[in-house]
Amino acid sequence: MRRTLLALLSTFAAGAAVAQVTTHDLAVQALMATKVNPAALAFWAGGNDPPEGETAAQAEARWAAALKGAQDLQAGGRDLLKHSRPGRWDEFARLMIEGGEKGEAAARAKDMDAAFLVGGDQVYNACNGCHKTYIPTPARLP
Ligand code: HEC
Repeated sequence: MRRTLLALLSTFAAGAAVAQVTTHDLAVQALMATKVNPAALAFWAGGNDPPEGETAAQAEARWAAALKGAQDLQAGGRDLLKHSRPGRWDEFARLMIEGGEKGEAAARAKDMDAAFLVGGDQVYNACNGCHKTYIPTPARLP
């Protein structure tokens, strides 16, 4: 269950955004593609069920990547504040920073449940909230 949920969340975050961009912002797009999205995927993998047959060394590597992902989400949120827009932009950027901070604590503790919760709450809500607000939906296109 858990793994399916996070797979869906990450697919949505990536796929929905790519399909719906109309007011193109190359700097923000690059930030998403090279930093925010990989960071989120690495962090979400911390809250997922471990892959079948994962070795102890692989688990270490997965948690290390999740920790770096959580730190990169904080840095990405700070970068987003530099690209501020009118409205709720900064609120979502700060939510992403908060998610990254809580996520960092969860990843340091290798606490799968805490990583799952923060991944589905602050982290996901930051992505989804900002995308829904700032990336027009296809239905609203001319
Ligand atoms: C504060 C606003 C904001 C937050 C928070 C945010 N995004 Fe985005 N994202 C955008 C905007 C705006 C675009 C469209 C950029 C463009 O191409 O003009 C975008 C685009 C994307 C893209 C498409 C990139 C491409 O190659 O076209 C992906 C993937 C993405 N975001 C993932 C994420 C994920 C995952 C998160 C959460 C961890 C997240 N975003 C959080 C604003 C945000």
